[in-house]
Amino acid sequence: MLTGQTVIVTGAAQGIGKAVAQKMALNHARVVLCDINDEILQKTVREINDSGGVSEGFKTDVSSMVSVQEITNKVLDKYGSIDILINNAGITRDNLVLRMTEEEWDSVISVNLKGTFNFCHAVAKPMIKKKMGKIINIASIIGLIGNAGQVNYAASKAGVIALTKSLAKELAGRGIRVNAIAPGFIQTAMTDKLSDEIKQQMLQFIPLKSFGKPDDVANTVLYLASDLSSYITGQVVVVDGGMVM
Ligand code: NAI
Repeated sequence: MLTGQTVIVTGAAQGIGKAVAQKMALNHARVVLCDINDEILQKTVREINDSGGVSEGFKTDVSSMVSVQEITNKVLDKYGSIDILINNAGITRDNLVLRMTEEEWDSVISVNLKGTFNFCHAVAKPMIKKKMGKIINIASIIGLIGNAGQVNYAASKAGVIALTKSLAKELAGRGIRVNAIAPGFIQTAMTDKLSDEIKQQMLQFIPLKSFGKPDDVANTVLYLASDLSSYITGQVVVVDGGMVM
């Protein structure tokens, strides 16, 4: 489905990003995995290549504009184009507003929102030159509905949604589609750290009565990255078992 296309996936060492990278490789794309955790990143790259995929990994801090630009240049030098960008890297630093530190606020905004901007900014020029490209940003339902204890995370993800819609408007005339995905509760390291009590509470609010899997998000990424969605831009696709309707 994606033969000959070069894809960048951020936060690709584990969780949703790993599932996305595997899905892209399975569909014959060349996959560039970026993550701040180099050890797990290289393990994931080996796994993908051992199962017949074509991938390589770059240690990256998405919050650094300089390093994002450097990696983009390297990928362009090597492959000539970047066809698909998936901004997935994200962190949480939860706290109630009165206890939230400046560091907790800044780090979440830097990785989730600025990191997404940095890669969009870096790939926009080469995509405009080629008059084609797809950008998919991983937001969250928390960016749509908010959540106590997550003012930083909710603001970052609402920002990702607003960035997506604005960029879609800027780039639509250049043949570039920009969409976001808002996952609900997906089983990864990010949600594993929640207590069993909170998980049981959350389950009550999920009409489909189960937590999502990374592959549920990866399937939606594949759809938005492929020509099956060629008339869709500026949208937020919610993947949450029916929590937000
Ligand atoms: P995860 O914690 O399992 O994976 C996140 C990955 O991002 C890790 O490999 C981590 O090393 C990497 N990362 C962190 N900071 C980075 C940085 N500065 N530069 C580059 N890479 C960095 O998380 P998960 O669950 O796979 O989340 C992926 C995305 O999906 C995030 O944006 C998250 O906000 C979003 N999401 C997750 C949901 C869930 O229920 N798991 C729900 C809604 C959204």
